[in-house]
Amino acid sequence: MRKPFLAGNWKMYKTVGEALDLVRRLNISVGQMRDREVLVCPPFTALKSVSQILTDSQIRLGAQNMHYEKEGAFTGDISAAMLVDVGVEYVILGHSERRHVFGESDTLISKKVPAAISANLKPILCIGEKIEERQAGQTQSVVLRQLEQGLSAVPKDHAAHVTIAYEPVWAIGTGHTATPRQAQEVHALIRGALQKKFGSTAETIRILYGGSVKPDNIDSLMAERDIDGALVGGASLTPESFSRIVRYANAGS
Ligand code: PGA
Repeated sequence: MRKPFLAGNWKMYKTVGEALDLVRRLNISVGQMRDREVLVCPPFTALKSVSQILTDSQIRLGAQNMHYEKEGAFTGDISAAMLVDVGVEYVILGHSERRHVFGESDTLISKKVPAAISANLKPILCIGEKIEERQAGQTQSVVLRQLEQGLSAVPKDHAAHVTIAYEPVWAIGTGHTATPRQAQEVHALIRGALQKKFGSTAETIRILYGGSVKPDNIDSLMAERDIDGALVGGASLTPESFSRIVRYANAGS
């Protein structure tokens, strides 16, 4: 059984004070839920303070990026060990904004994923096609290439530490969410590729959907068989909307 996983990617929003306010409110509303995993990914500057608030909470802490080297002359960057040092458990890697705004390549991302695992961080590998790739019928090939390359240095016995986030670039921050059927189709493709690569461990790997997830579309997305959770940007920035997403309605309940 895969535990549902609802993750908030705060991007470059929230000062320390604002982050603490948000996480305190989330803690009251969803801080003790055990039947699903709740994750917040604040900017680097707020990680340590947020971590201190979450000591008695079920809410987990994640970062939004890291460097693959342990340390060195990499001005402006952060290592996995530095994240672990302030209480971080998860790290988002290969987010489409890193790929398309900052030019991160599959090769670079393929170094970050095993580096995160070696440092005891759980990577959330983001993959997803651009609108022109979808229109050209390249969704499958793009997603499979990003998946295969991102996981190329992950051995089978480390695969259980990985989470995948399928985030079609055309759906991020645009209000155009993929339909549950469109998302499920790609999630099933990803599940199949994970099975081929990792065998039965693939059943334990969670595949999140991301791209304009909101309180009013989370229920139907979560009803799909291979959608195990969501990576939420804009709607994770207020306690009301993110709590509602975390408390999505189970199909049939
Ligand atoms: P969005 O962002 O929910 O604002 O579309 C999702 C993401 O970038 O992870």
